[in-house]
Amino acid sequence: MARPIYLDYNGTTPHAPEVIAAMRPFLEHEFGNPSSSHWYGIAPKQAVEKARQQVARLLNCAADEIVFTSGGTESNNHAIKGMAAALRDRGNHIITCSIEHPAVLEVCRALEADGVATTCLPVDHDGLVDPADVEKAIRPETILISIMHSNNEVGTMQPVAEISALARSRGIAIHTDAAQSVGKVAVDVRALGVDLLSVAGHKLYAPKGVGALYIRKSVQPAKFCHGAGQERGWRAGTENVLEIVGLGMACEIAGENLESNISHMQGLRDRLHQGLVDDLGDTCALNGHPEKRLPNTLSLGFKGLAATRILEEIGLDVAASPGAACHSDTVEISHVLQAMGIDRQWAMGTLRFSVGRMTTAEEIDRARAVVTAAVRKLGG
Ligand SMILES: Cc1ncc(COP(=O)(O)O)c(C=O)c1O
Repeated sequence: MARPIYLDYNGTTPHAPEVIAAMRPFLEHEFGNPSSSHWYGIAPKQAVEKARQQVARLLNCAADEIVFTSGGTESNNHAIKGMAAALRDRGNHIITCSIEHPAVLEVCRALEADGVATTCLPVDHDGLVDPADVEKAIRPETILISIMHSNNEVGTMQPVAEISALARSRGIAIHTDAAQSVGKVAVDVRALGVDLLSVAGHKLYAPKGVGALYIRKSVQPAKFCHGAGQERGWRAGTENVLEIVGLGMACEIAGENLESNISHMQGLRDRLHQGLVDDLGDTCALNGHPEKRLPNTLSLGFKGLAATRILEEIGLDVAASPGAACHSDTVEISHVLQAMGIDRQWAMGTLRFSVGRMTTAEEIDRARAVVTAAVRKLGG
């Protein structure tokens, strides 16, 4: 049986062939521990350091500003909890926004139990944070601003450089969760002016369970994991060599082909969008900013329909994500769509289609036909 067309690249990505090839020796025979001083430790140690350089090159930082982690969630935890702990004597207030991933929002919630205050800023109808709101929220005790680079559900990209300029002028550290952006758009930590930035490997064709945290040299969050001192003491534990090698290669190829990948993804995303608008007219509406948006992300609300019902109809042919979840007799709309103030009759029928490097025009045209037929069948 043919597999459904994969339009959930924001959920996760397949492994790039180059990533598989780079990892293979470390699966097959380079099993050594990078900390070993004997022969078997040499190749793994060199491979980890090469990967560090590959990640650093993509983000435009020094290799020793990169710490490998288990993924986006850990990177966010390290950045936020680490700064809260390290700056405890200076203040206890963090600013974030209402459409962050749970890997930021839940960290803030956990810190609140420890006496850290958080301000969760609103977003506008397109999902944008207003830098003026950030400025107003700053207090003498603010120690960290954490605003995502791009949103996973609707793709809206935040004015991070503007917000970080504000943070710097007040001497406040700034973190951005770039899990969805790295590999899809240019992410340059110097141009952004951020102190900490999170990367998730499985969003850019590397395996699940590996990521990175950029920590600017001048910033000192508390250590994440205590032990034998790997990762220069930031994160103890024997390195996940296999996947770190995969992440390094994923970053290298992302950097080489960034512009052509952007135009490929944007072309296909817009082809799907236009096709569905042509077929369904004002039964469907875009969520997220029309321009300031990841080039691969299309969040569409289908008026009056339930997202889970559409997914049931299309599930054998197309893999996409819902913006609302059905429980026995209620529909729970995602916190992102709620925060953006998307009308319930659109929000409950929202699907996220996210294309990737491997997506083809033929797949997009088939997906369009399948979605159009399902929406019409359900009365949309
Ligand atoms: C914006 C954002 N941040 C963080 C994460 C978590 O990353 P990971 O799955 O690597 O823990 C995700 C994953 O969906 C994400 O989209």
